[in-house]
Formats: sequence, structure tokens, C-alpha cells
Amino acid sequence: MKNQSWIVDRASTGTYDPRCFCLIEGPIPSAPDGKIVVQTLLMSLDPTNLNWLKLDPQLQAIPFGIGYPMIGVSIGVVIESRAPAHAVGDVVTGMWGWRRFDVVDPLLVHPAKPATEMSFEQQLAIFSHVGRAAAGGMTLIGEVKPTDAVLVSGAAGATGSLAARIAKAQGCRVVGIAGGPDKCEFLLDELNSTVRSTTSKKTFARPSTGTSRAVSTCSSTMWVGKIDAVLTNMAVGCRIVLCGAISQYNISEPSNLYGVQNLPLLIFRSARLQGFVADFGPRNHVVDNLLDDLTQRGQLIARTHVVDGFENVPDALALLLNGKNRGKLLAQV
Ligand SMILES: NC(=O)c1ccc[n+]([C@@H]2O[C@H](COP(=O)([O-])OP(=O)(O)OC[C@H]3O[C@@H](n4cnc5c(N)ncnc54)[C@H](OP(=O)(O)O)[C@@H]3O)[C@@H](O)[C@H]2O)c1
Repeated sequence: MKNQSWIVDRASTGTYDPRCFCLIEGPIPSAPDGKIVVQTLLMSLDPTNLNWLKLDPQLQAIPFGIGYPMIGVSIGVVIESRAPAHAVGDVVTGMWGWRRFDVVDPLLVHPAKPATEMSFEQQLAIFSHVGRAAAGGMTLIGEVKPTDAVLVSGAAGATGSLAARIAKAQGCRVVGIAGGPDKCEFLLDELNSTVRSTTSKKTFARPSTGTSRAVSTCSSTMWVGKIDAVLTNMAVGCRIVLCGAISQYNISEPSNLYGVQNLPLLIFRSARLQGFVADFGPRNHVVDNLLDDLTQRGQLIARTHVVDGFENVPDALALLLNGKNRGKLLAQV
């Protein structure tokens, strides 16, 4: 068997073009001292991969450039170990290259749960940066209280749907925004029908009747014109938690980037808007415990969208931009 890697061939600065990747083949690597070789089983495909592809150091978690493989969070099995903490056959999760086989630093991975306990799909969707963004965004950053009216954008997506479920589990009234009738049906049916929805992605003006001037927490994944509407509908003391801005990830002309108009309303509503990445340092365990607790109680189930085949990964990334993914986008290798 040969190794295959998706290598960044050029920066993707405008509209995403899967041809900014090239597939290269090579031998399966060997583990140097202290390292392990992992065979990738399941990959998480994320909007942030589109950011990293811009090759702007300000947008990258780990610096890399042309000629390097794209990186991401995956689950895989150890096929060679020269690290004391890992044995061949261990299943681990963490961040490594978009490769069928990669040499991995054991410090960057941790054991996955057995598939019999929780499917690998659910693990990547919940016990990952995605679940952490949703749980940490709602609790540590958004500080939700049961009396809050919570507005979630991208509410049918991987992060948004978990954020909506977490807010509901805290007893909040939750309103979701999603693109299209079937996504809104999903919000109504599967999130226990107390989540209300709107299809008005393009024409959105107010969160929904009854939430006007009462949005206490907003979990935003998209930015765009919605943020201006949210700003006009904030309750006093509103917290807007911003983990993403996907509407801005695929824009070729800087002049087309969205300029927020209503920011001064933060002043008059004593509100705050805070961005974050899903790493809360010493508080990660608080977030992980919450995810664990809600999962054990059956209150946190992720919808997943699994694409088959390592060779289809660059094309699959486009599903995030055209809204065709139905849940956490993953690739089965
Ligand atoms: N800060 C962090 O650590 C962190 C961690 C995880 C995710 N995130 C962010 O969270 C956001 C969602 O990520 P995800 O993995 O959960 O993806 P997702 O929501 O499962 O999928 C992306 C969704 O974004 C919406 N979308 C795409 N283009 C859009 C546009 N131009 N305008 C408005 N909506 C658009 C589509 O949903 P609709 O069809 O419903 O509009 C699409 O299905 C991203 O911005 C990502 O960067 C951040």
C-alpha cells in the first residue's frame, strides 16, 4: 500500500477552488524515535481549512505553506510506535496532516473512545474543536442563563446545532437561523421543536417575532448582514459570541467583505461581542465535562455528513460553502 497526501499547491485567496490542492503519492513513513505512525480512518473537514488555505499567518493555528499537507483533526489507528505511551492498534484522535499515513507527535493526540462506546463520527463531531466551540461559546464566553433568549446562526450546522442543543439544555429559549426549509425542519423536529427557525438567510431582518429587543445571547458563526440585525435586537447586557464568519471566507474582492454598521449599539445596550477559538486552556476540562455530561444524558447528538474516500476531500470542502452539508462534515478514508 502507498501513502497519499493532499498538499497545498497554491494559496486559495478568492473563491475556493479545490485545485489549490494536489494529491501526491509516496511510501508509508516510518516512526522516528519518540513518534508514532498513524493510519487515518476519519477526517474532520472544517471551514477553518478554508481560512488556513489563504496562507495568511494571521489566520493559521499552525504555520504551514505551499508544499505542505493541509492539517486537520482526525481519528486514526497507530500502526507503528516508537513512543512509550502508545501501542500498535491504539486508536487516537488529534491533529495531523491530510494523509493516509502520517508521522505524529504523541503530544498532539489522545486516545479516542472505543467505537463500541461512541461512534467515531460522534466523537469527531462532539469531542473536538467543534463541540468545544459550541459548549465553551455558550457557557464560558456567552455565560448563558435559563432566562436568556438565545439566537444561533448556522443553527443546523455542526457547531450551531450543538450550540442550540446546549442552550436548550440550560433551559434557554432558542431561536435558530438556517439556510432552507429542510434545515429548518431539522431544527424544529430534532431539536425538540422549541427551536424556532427562519429561512430568511438572505432577507433576514429581525431574529423572529417575540425576540425583538430580547436577544440575550447570540452565537454567531457567519457574520454577514445578520449581525447588524442582531445588533438592533439586543437586550441590555447581550453577549454576542463569534466563533466564525463563514460568509466572509469565500470572497475574492476585499471590497466585498461585509462592513458592520450597527456596532455603536453595543454601547447603548451595554452589550459585548467576543470572538474566540475553541481552546480554553485550563478551562478545557470544564467544557469537556459539560459535553460528556450532556452526551451521557442523551441531550447531545450530532448530525454528521460523511463523504466517502480520501480522494474526494478537496471537493467535499466546497459543501461547507454552498450549504449542502447536512451536519458535521467528515471524510471516511
Ligand atoms: N472558533 C472556533 O474554534 C471554531 C470551531 C468550529 C467552528 N467554527 C466556525 O463555525 C462556523 C461553522 O462551522 P461548522 O464546521 O459548524 O460548519 P457548518 O455550519 O456545519 O457548515 C457550514 C454552513 O455555513 C453556512 N454558510 C455557508 N456559506 C455561507 C454564507 N455565505 N452566508 C451564510 N451562511 C453560509 C451554511 O449553512 P446554511 O445553509 O444553514 O446557511 C453551511 O452549511 C464556521 O464559521 C467555522 O469557522 C469556529
